[in-house]
Amino acid sequence: MADRSALITGVTGQDGSYLAELLVSKGYKVYGLVRRLSSPNMSHLKGIRDAIEILDGDLMDQTSLQQAVKAADPTEIYNLAAQSFVAASFSQPVLTGEVTALGAVRMLEAARAHAPTARFYQAASSEMFGHVEREPQDELTRFHPRSPYGVAKVYAYWACVNYREAYGMFVSNGILFNHESERRGIEFVTRKISDGVARIVTGHAKHLTLGNLDARRDWGYAPDYVEFMWRTLQHQVPDDFVGATGESHTVREFVAAAFHEAGIDAWEPFVRTDDRFKRPSEVYNLRGDPSKAAQRLGWKATTRFDELVRTMVRADLARYGRT
Ligand code: NAP
Ligand code: GDD
Repeated sequence: MADRSALITGVTGQDGSYLAELLVSKGYKVYGLVRRLSSPNMSHLKGIRDAIEILDGDLMDQTSLQQAVKAADPTEIYNLAAQSFVAASFSQPVLTGEVTALGAVRMLEAARAHAPTARFYQAASSEMFGHVEREPQDELTRFHPRSPYGVAKVYAYWACVNYREAYGMFVSNGILFNHESERRGIEFVTRKISDGVARIVTGHAKHLTLGNLDARRDWGYAPDYVEFMWRTLQHQVPDDFVGATGESHTVREFVAAAFHEAGIDAWEPFVRTDDRFKRPSEVYNLRGDPSKAAQRLGWKATTRFDELVRTMVRADLARYGRT
């Protein structure tokens, strides 16, 4: 019987699946919370499906969360489940608040009732900085969210701080900047680009249609960031940490690098823009300062921008049969 066990919400997603792999490799007993769907989507878990235990539950449903925490009796809880797509939060603001904000409180309540000594990680976000007051952003930068998603994450962030202060629970926020991978959902811009480039060069599409090409993001590689999550919970005391590369690039730069990787330098004729993909209030510029995590957690993002783009484009090219 493993003496360390973890319950991961959002285990079917990009981060949850990488985190489950990391914790299994470290000898943890891993439980993954999965909501019922008409067609189960366990594709990211295929390498470790037999090594983890799936528990039914939904962040909208308190009873299922209580039962899951009780059944797992974990030493660590990672709350990664969310309605995580910023654009969708404008069309589904109430659902986003229910899942991304109140869902975190439901998990905190389940932990308080059934695993009060478990260490709790909350997937906070650089979207909380939104309309940034300074660059780079660190743990002391003021929040000014620009989307229902960002607002929900700020609520969840403060709920976590409050459970730490009110009940003495070990609750930590990881304020993570964008991190991507070949498992990234197809609607997020990096994956939309890598998939779009692969479709164009393999003759499956003629154009790629995007929104704001001038937005800047601090893009890292997701496997680096699940290591950050784990280190956050191994720290002596609960605390809040920024996870970032410290480097930012525009969407336009990502597009150029992705086409270049596929052998096309004159990319402009293949890319269109459409206001449909722009947001009612945009976050123009995010770049994080990960100094605190470097000093206290010994963490550093190892994969840089060019390598990230290469990895994602190559994976999508391979999916379309081009190696
Ligand atoms: P993701 O791929 O979109 O995964 C989200 C996960 O949440 C999926 O497993 C999804 O399950 C689950 N989920 C959604 N609604 C649920 C509900 N009502 N009940 C239970 N589970 C539910 O997101 P990600 O990129 O891995 O991000 C993980 C977390 O980090 C999220 O909280 C996100 O907001 C946050 N974050 C991400 C980034 C980033 O750049 N990736 C940066 C900062 C913070 P289904 O498979 O059933 O849909
Ligand atoms: N999705 C998308 N699609 N974004 C586009 C497009 C497009 O066609 N064209 C331009 N963009 C711009 C968006 O306006 C935004 O400024 C930027 O590309 C990144 O968009 P996303 O990839 O959708 O990610 P995000 O930054 O809004 O949110 C992600 O990162 C957050 C951390 O800062 C998500 O993973 C969030 O869950 C996470 O918290």
